[in-house]
Amino acid sequence: MSEIVYLNGEFLPLEKATVPVLDRGFIFGDGVYEVIPAYSRHAFRLPEHLRRLERSLDGIRLANPMGDADWTRLIHEIIARNQGDDQSIYLQVTRGVAKRDHAFPLNVKPTVFLMSSPLVPPARELVENGVPAITATDFRWLKCNVKSTSLLGNCLLRQAAVDAGATEVVLFRDGYLTEASASNVFVVKNGVLFAPPKNHLVLPGITYDVVLELARTGRVPHEVREIPEQDVRSAEEIWITSSTKEVLAVTTLDGRPVGAGTPGAIFRAVHGLYQDFKRKIMRQAA
Ligand code: PDD
Repeated sequence: MSEIVYLNGEFLPLEKATVPVLDRGFIFGDGVYEVIPAYSRHAFRLPEHLRRLERSLDGIRLANPMGDADWTRLIHEIIARNQGDDQSIYLQVTRGVAKRDHAFPLNVKPTVFLMSSPLVPPARELVENGVPAITATDFRWLKCNVKSTSLLGNCLLRQAAVDAGATEVVLFRDGYLTEASASNVFVVKNGVLFAPPKNHLVLPGITYDVVLELARTGRVPHEVREIPEQDVRSAEEIWITSSTKEVLAVTTLDGRPVGAGTPGAIFRAVHGLYQDFKRKIMRQAA
């Protein structure tokens, strides 16, 4: 069965879905997106994802083409029409098709696109051994809180990681930790879990919120504050989080071991809480 996508009011096979070359998503990267995990066909933290979508749309001055009830129906329809109980739902809204001009076009309908891909949790080996990361200067723009489809900076940074044989690239701006190319970053120092604050320099991750909630309920000492580069380089643990990676430990940074070079005790505790939490959601959805 081929993958079914949604494009501007129609459900159709992926290979039949096309957009005009003058779509501003193609010409300017003028759009926003979301990635929503679905467990047991249940969209995870959907209200939170829809709230972030709304804020991203506000951030690029594009009216939301649909209300939450319609988004919810559409997302569940895409989940129902595709195979696999666990899916990763990608949705994108662009400013639509118009003659090329940087200024916003008038009276143009936004392009709305949704697709599904299998949601495969990170391999056990990655969870048990952790992953390598490198570091780089965060040279992206100053609206990283907007989940924009303009991801050239993120792509260049991620490729630098791949070229170095690493999974992610941990980013610093003006001497402070921001995030990674496609994940949020946490560090553990002196037994305390630290997270950088949500501001215009980082994407407000849904998984970031879950991890902080689990730290709270699991009584893991934690604090949200600006994290100097030196604290990252001397951290006992470094974690990356995202909807698709869940929580992974970074065990080497720029080739040097992080802590003992294996996933730390606090990582193992919170990773366990995350898996329990996921199982609970899956049971409720089933
Ligand atoms: N990316 N920071 C950046 C730059 C990201 O691209 C992502 C996720 C995150 C984590 O956000 P969340 O926990 O809501 O997934 C942080 C998605 C998965 C992507 O672009 O594919």
